[in-house]
Amino acid sequence: MEYFVKSGAPSKQRSGCVVVGVYERRKLSEAAQALDGATGGAITQAMRRGDMDGRRDDTLLLHGLDGVLADRVLLVGLGRERDFDDKAFVRANGAAIKALRKTGATDAVSYLTHLVPRKRDLSWSVMRAAMIAESTAYRFTQCKSKPEPQEGRLTRLTFDVASRSHLPEGEEALRRALGIAQGMMLTRDLSNLPGNRCTPTYLADTGRKLASDYPAIKTKVLDEKKMESLGMGALLSVSRGSREPATFTVMEYMKGPKKAKPVVLVGKGLTFDSGGISIKPAAAMDEMKYDMCGGAAVFGAMKAVAELGLPINVVGIVPASENMPDGQANKPGDIVTSMSGQTIEVLNTDAEGRLLLCDALTYVEQNYDADCVIDMATLTGAVIIALGKHASGLYANQPTLAKALTAAGELSGDRVWELPLWEDYESALKSPFADVANVGGREAGSVTAAVFLHRFAKKLRWAHLDIAGSAWEQNPKGATARPVPLLMQFLLQRVDNSKQK
Ligand code: BES
Ligand code: MN
Ligand code: ZN
Repeated sequence: MEYFVKSGAPSKQRSGCVVVGVYERRKLSEAAQALDGATGGAITQAMRRGDMDGRRDDTLLLHGLDGVLADRVLLVGLGRERDFDDKAFVRANGAAIKALRKTGATDAVSYLTHLVPRKRDLSWSVMRAAMIAESTAYRFTQCKSKPEPQEGRLTRLTFDVASRSHLPEGEEALRRALGIAQGMMLTRDLSNLPGNRCTPTYLADTGRKLASDYPAIKTKVLDEKKMESLGMGALLSVSRGSREPATFTVMEYMKGPKKAKPVVLVGKGLTFDSGGISIKPAAAMDEMKYDMCGGAAVFGAMKAVAELGLPINVVGIVPASENMPDGQANKPGDIVTSMSGQTIEVLNTDAEGRLLLCDALTYVEQNYDADCVIDMATLTGAVIIALGKHASGLYANQPTLAKALTAAGELSGDRVWELPLWEDYESALKSPFADVANVGGREAGSVTAAVFLHRFAKKLRWAHLDIAGSAWEQNPKGATARPVPLLMQFLLQRVDNSKQK
């Protein structure tokens, strides 16, 4: 779809459809009032007939109104005016796109971008509106022999801003949204691909492709031999049980000041997690193809950063493997030596993500002077029990980092909730035979996993996102690209802050 930012009167738009909002109890938004005036009260009349009251998710399509140049007018319910918040904005824009796709309109002009929730601004509204339009248009069709065509004919969408002086702000917001949307699309595609297509090698190739598409990205892929020589014994113990070789992809994007320390992103890339010898039950095991969503988010964020040409330094790292049962696989009780030198007793082979991430964190510590390190992983079922799908679990060993990520989550709508890294939880990971055990019992499973990782991040300014609940959804089944919106908001904030200095 093509997008534009313009400024003009709603009645003067030569377009397939003009989209305006209406609050509950038939209270017209400004743009709706303007149309009502231009049509001698046609909007008020339609509402008075009882066809629409302005409740959330309601829409009403009006055709061929006198005094309006557009073929159609779409009224979108906003709910009560004093309750108009981020969520209401998102729902109204989503309902508008859905309704537009049911019409024959090929283009539309939306005035919903005028409706800025409290504490937000025009950039926020344009950015969110464009990202909603892009993500509702997403289809995963790569594995269908005959993809079903997209519903509706909409191909051009214009967001109106209140005056010409707002055009530059609106256009920059649109540019950012479309760059992020491209990154999110890559994340969703990688995540939705099945395990037999998206292998560790496929992930590494994705990193190489990013380097060839964007000259600013430099990619290096470590093979198992190299990982062996670095001493990544925890990571390699997981991949030993699989016929697919592990890969370790390192992408550098250094368009910031030479002296600026990089933000390092690390993503779990388990292209299929059967559980290994501690095998998972059969029900919903297919969903373990999504166990590389953290890695997919790192690739997506790198793509978005490069697409936008942000003046920052970012490193993306994706340790990737399968977790399979096999004669050579980890067995419960096996003790492996991590790159850090710490020995780990593998009490449960299904707690494999932390075995990859611990070596990746040590690799970061030894190779980069990072400003901060953020890892993201579909790490535990326990975080789904704690937070459901609405929030990702956040852990951090530095309060300012936790604060910045929480704020970025609120702004982007890709929210996180902080959970504790208290020392009290460390005793759960005690092992009689090794330095640490890889699981900590039934209680606080997401916390003990984070506390395990923390042992390998003590020298880093570090945050961990447990995205097992947020990375994909059930209905319709598919990847969400979270936490890419959160990461991009976090990075854009740093860009905007450094400009103000
Ligand atoms: N990839 C899973 C976590 C997961 C489970 C994500 C369900 C999304 C949905 C992870 O590797 C795992 O198996 N974790 C175990 C840890 C346990 C053995 C301590 C879990 O959560 O059951
Ligand atoms: Mn597992
Ligand atoms: Zn896993």
